[in-house]
This record gives sequence, structure tokens and C-alpha cells, in this order.
Amino acid sequence: MRTKIVAGNWKMNKTLQETVTLINELKNLLNPHNNVEVIIAPPFVNLPKAVELLQDFPIKVAAQNMHFADSGAYTGEVSAGMLKAIGVDTVILGHSERRAYFNETADMLQKKAHKAYEKSMTNIFCVGEKLKEREAGKHFDVVESQIADALFQLPLQAYKKIVIAYEPVWAIGTGQTATPDQAQEMHRFIRETLAKKYGRDLANAIRILYGGSVKPGNAAEIFSKPDVDGGLIGGASLKAQDFNAIVEAAKS
Ligand code: PGA
Repeated sequence: MRTKIVAGNWKMNKTLQETVTLINELKNLLNPHNNVEVIIAPPFVNLPKAVELLQDFPIKVAAQNMHFADSGAYTGEVSAGMLKAIGVDTVILGHSERRAYFNETADMLQKKAHKAYEKSMTNIFCVGEKLKEREAGKHFDVVESQIADALFQLPLQAYKKIVIAYEPVWAIGTGQTATPDQAQEMHRFIRETLAKKYGRDLANAIRILYGGSVKPGNAAEIFSKPDVDGGLIGGASLKAQDFNAIVEAAKS
């Protein structure tokens, strides 16, 4: 049995005060349950406050990115060690917005994934094809190489702390969700890709999240698919009621 995960990617949203408000709303609404792990990823500057507010509540705090170096002349960047020092040991890596707007390459993501492993951080690793790639029938190839390029040099034990998030780029923030069958088809493919490289046990154990316009109205159907182990939620994670409804959908 794989425990489902519902992770909220806040992106560049919420000031410190708004972060406090949203976290307090979540603490009031959410009814923690062993069946679902809940994670939120506020912007870097709000992470210490989020950790403080959630120290006695079962919502984990994640970062949205990190650098692959330990320290040095990398203006504007944040290291794994800095995150761990404030109690954050989960990081989203390879989000399509990082790849598209900040030119994150396969080589950088391979280094970041390696750093997450070295520092024992949970790596929520995002993959997903663009619309053109899907239309050209290349979506399986694209996702396979995103996984292979960044993760296949890692040893088997690294996968204890890896979660894959499949986020078709054409579904992110567009209101256009992959159908539950499209999600299932790609999640199964990802599991098979991992089975070929690392064996069936690992493939059966790894959590694969779906992301891209997940809302209270479509979450239950997507999460009901056998290879979908929860979701990475953008827009709908910014409203406590919507996020709570999505967490509830993952419990059933
Ligand atoms: P969305 O974003 O739910 O707003 O589509 C998902 C994501 O980018 O993680």
C-alpha cells in the first residue's frame, strides 16, 4: 500500500502575513489522517515561519527549489544545507517553470537530485511533456529521458526519498487537466520505466503524483486511478478550503 501524498506548490504567492493566515486556516480545516501525507511548499522567505507554525501539526514543509552546490558565489541561490538547518528536508526539483523560465537543464537537475540524495532530502522530482511533444506522440520518450537523465545514476536506496510528479506542461495553470486515463497511462509508463532499471519492488513502492489543474471537482477521479498516488497542486493549494477538499479526496 502506497500512502498518498497531497503537496501544495505555492509558487511565488503569499507574503509572510498571508502565509500565516493560510497555514492557520489549514490547521483549522485539515483533519489529519494516516492515509495521506500533506506537504506545502511556500516561497523561501516564508519557510522558517511555516516550519514554526507546523511543528506540532502533520503538514510537512518543502522548498520549491535549491542549488546543487553546498555554498559559494551563486547570488540569489539557496543550498540544501541552509534548508536542512531550518528544518526543511523536502524539495521540489525540476518543476517545468524552473526548466522553462530559469533554464534548468538535465545536467543541473542531475546534480540537484544527487545533492538531495547526499543530504537525505526528499526529492519531489517533476517531469512532464509540452503540448507540442504530446501532439507529436513524443510524450513517453520525453518523460523517460527526463527521468533517466536526472535520476538513473542514483543508487537504488536513493529512491526511498524520491517522489515523482508527472505534470504535463499543457495542464499546469491552464484549467485543462489530463484525463484520469491519460494520467494513469503515463503513471503506469513511469512505473514500468523504473521497473526496467531498478526492479519491480522499487517500481511498486515509489509514489507518483499527478499535477496540473487538480481541483476539488476532479481530484477524486484522478486519485482513484491505480498508479496515481496523489497530487502536486498549484493554484488550488492557495485556498484552504480547496486544498482541504483535495486532501479529503485523497483519503477515499
Ligand atoms: P496548477 O499547478 O495546479 O496550478 O495547474 C500545478 C503545479 O505547477 O505544480
